[in-house]
Amino acid sequence: MNVIIFGPPGAGKGTQSNNIVKDFDLKQVSTGDLLRNEVKLQTTMGKKIESIINKGVLVPDKVVNSLIEQVVLDPKNFNRLIFDGYPRTLSQTYNLENLLKKFKQKISIVLNLCVDKEIILKRVNGRITCTKCFRIFNFYFNPPNSNNHYCEEKYLQKRTDDNSKIIQNRYTTYVAMIKPIIDYYTKKDSLSKIDGNQKIDEIYNKIKGILENIKDWHYAGFLYKFPWKNLTSLIYGTNSRH
Ligand code: AP5
Ligand code: MG
Repeated sequence: MNVIIFGPPGAGKGTQSNNIVKDFDLKQVSTGDLLRNEVKLQTTMGKKIESIINKGVLVPDKVVNSLIEQVVLDPKNFNRLIFDGYPRTLSQTYNLENLLKKFKQKISIVLNLCVDKEIILKRVNGRITCTKCFRIFNFYFNPPNSNNHYCEEKYLQKRTDDNSKIIQNRYTTYVAMIKPIIDYYTKKDSLSKIDGNQKIDEIYNKIKGILENIKDWHYAGFLYKFPWKNLTSLIYGTNSRH
């Protein structure tokens, strides 16, 4: 099963992807994270990307498509990706479709998180991310504490594009680009609209229910959840090292 998760900045794409990864045998691929990794390297390309991200506009399709291609063609990721923040243009959408087709895969479901603008602004303002374990927290809604976060405090950081001016641009860019992409997946009957204004757990319960009903998850999910260890112990005996 391959999943796309859409939503404006701060909608909870990363938060919900983290939840999905825990319950389903999927791997999250966030183009934002991949691009921020390039920025960290401070290569010529990384510096260009940094200046684009800090304007709140989109990085060229060519750059993002090439990052995504590397992920899709890795056999470890076969039919188990959550695309978080990709595609964001029609050209990226067609690129993804062609790429998946080439590798005998498809998108199983597109989750569209719909969140009101005022809520987004508050979420983005309060966001802190751990640069070590990549968990996402929020000063107002989901603060880090000794029960949910184990890395040192120094790793908790705000993103450079999380300020009021850049967030306005990111939001406007999202609204300007997303409609034809949503129309594309609606026509393919793959789109599932989700009220993203609710609490994190409430949203996740809805998502979980949707994903559990997907046909190709039934088979993969069976294999994933099957108690292989117990079966091996039964065949070879409990202390077997086979
Ligand atoms: P990206 O990193 O993808 O940023 P974004 O799309 O703006 O989305 P965010 O990561 O800000 O939000 P999110 O939906 O993941 O929310 P989160 O779960 O963190 O992209 C950054 C930039 O990279 C782009 O602007 C662009 O320049 C470039 N880029 C990326 N992809 C590209 C592409 N395909 N093409 C071209 N350029 C690209 O949650 C936010 C906060 O809210 C957190 O603090 C969280 O704890 C909290 N929260 C989440 N859900 C809830 C809830 N239900 N209730 C209360 N709080 C909540
Ligand atoms: Mg994110």
